[in-house]
Amino acid sequence: TVLIIDFGSQVTQLIARRVREAGVYSEIAPFQLAEEAFHRLKPKAVILSGSPASTVDVGSPRAPQVIFDSGLPVLGICYGEQTMCAQLGGKVEGSDHREFGRAFLEIAKDCALFDGVWATGTRHQVWMSHGDRVTALPPGFEVVGTSSGAPFAAIADEKRRYYGLQFHPEVVHTPDGAKLLSNFVHKIAGLKGDWTMAAYREQAIDAIRSQVGGGKVICALSGGVDSSVAALLTHEAVGEQLTCILVDHGLMRKNEAAEVVEMFRQHYNVPLIVVDASDKFIDALEGEPDPEKKRKTIGRLFIEVFEEEARKLARDGETADFLVQGTLYPDVIESVSFTGGPSVTIKSHHNVGGLPERMNMSLVEPLRELFKDEVRVLGKELGLPDHFIGRHPFPGPGLAIRCPGGVTREKLDILRAADAIYLDEIRKAGLYDAIWQAFAVLLPVQTVGVMGDGRTYEFVCALRAVTSVDGMTADFYHYDMEFLGRAATRIINEVRGINRVVYDVTSKPPGTIEWE
Ligand code: XMP
Repeated sequence: TVLIIDFGSQVTQLIARRVREAGVYSEIAPFQLAEEAFHRLKPKAVILSGSPASTVDVGSPRAPQVIFDSGLPVLGICYGEQTMCAQLGGKVEGSDHREFGRAFLEIAKDCALFDGVWATGTRHQVWMSHGDRVTALPPGFEVVGTSSGAPFAAIADEKRRYYGLQFHPEVVHTPDGAKLLSNFVHKIAGLKGDWTMAAYREQAIDAIRSQVGGGKVICALSGGVDSSVAALLTHEAVGEQLTCILVDHGLMRKNEAAEVVEMFRQHYNVPLIVVDASDKFIDALEGEPDPEKKRKTIGRLFIEVFEEEARKLARDGETADFLVQGTLYPDVIESVSFTGGPSVTIKSHHNVGGLPERMNMSLVEPLRELFKDEVRVLGKELGLPDHFIGRHPFPGPGLAIRCPGGVTREKLDILRAADAIYLDEIRKAGLYDAIWQAFAVLLPVQTVGVMGDGRTYEFVCALRAVTSVDGMTADFYHYDMEFLGRAATRIINEVRGINRVVYDVTSKPPGTIEWE
């Protein structure tokens, strides 16, 4: 295991991913809990992350001393380099010359970190983001790389296996960064790199078995990748002790519920209860224009319906003791906050959150240690088809938040039809995998058109498509106009109720991906 100490950088999770991609298991601990994590995980190497803080400030965070006393190899990145220097007897100063973005590193000297990647005297693109910089090295260190803004851009104490990089090797803008991290964990820390998803699957199945014993388990299946993979893994571990419940809120895409049912029942033979609660949801939502109220209503009804099903099972003598959740690693990591206050709620996200506190059950969370892309690999391992694993994300509140102005049954049907055509065209054009998420939105606006010889007065449909890495930021997808024309024509011709199509060219920020 590699322990990554998080000082609050935006990209700490990328370090963990790169290390895992090198076949070495890694965990992130916020700096406040780093010492405890160090004793618990017994790591073979430590990486110190970047930070928005300044080492020069009084009270700025430090790495626990035990890390330097342990004799383990340490890699400090950006702030990590600076705090390492400050803690080991070097000097860090604030600087007027901020270096941000692309920079070039001159290799001054060979070292184990650069082995087989960068040779002395060569120059390479790296990604910087810092104001402070190291101005005097601690004893034992030497400079191995320089940049115009940072004379100590890469430093090493090879005897003690301490390395410091002022740039970020974990981001893609440092093209060779992954190789440096691989050198650190393999060549310097001597870790083997045999962590695979197949091994993880076995390990997770054992863990579920020992947690659950002979108990009964239920799972809220949404049709999304996370809950599906969590359910299948649990099914593999405890078989018929697991019952899945699919709450059909009537806000899913065309054929979606049917596909999930077919896959789970026919293909995997997982016990599955489908509750058609669409009337209940749509009745409660009808005419409500407020996005937050819509989201809260859906969240509340979901819990009500799910609880009722769990009670029915209990009446049949099948009281569930455990609830499976597809919680992912990014939801688990405690984020390091420097502002103190709570962050602003942009949208009340709905998933099965809120269930466990209300229902007296223990959680089974077999994906707690995984990133989204790792869940996809695990899904493949479990035999889920590629088209299922590669599906675009779909929000818990479903089509309801794609009908601004309030849902009606009629509007949902129009939207579902338009969305299906749009996605069909995207697939036909071979664009599905290049787009992170694409969907149609039905606007509460009617406009005048002409079809045949007649006047029409129908709704406007907005098309959305974005590229993104994690949904936190996004750019609109740059289609060619031919494609948009084709999709628009088909939607207008085939969907009664829509006579105009527009394309959304807003990025996030300032927009969000969904319209509500
Ligand atoms: P926004 O609209 O906030 O969306 O830019 C970012 C990503 O999150 C999805 N999303 C949700 N997912 N429950 C979910 O499970 C929700 O309530 C929810 N709201 C938005 C959205 O589809 C996009 O992928």
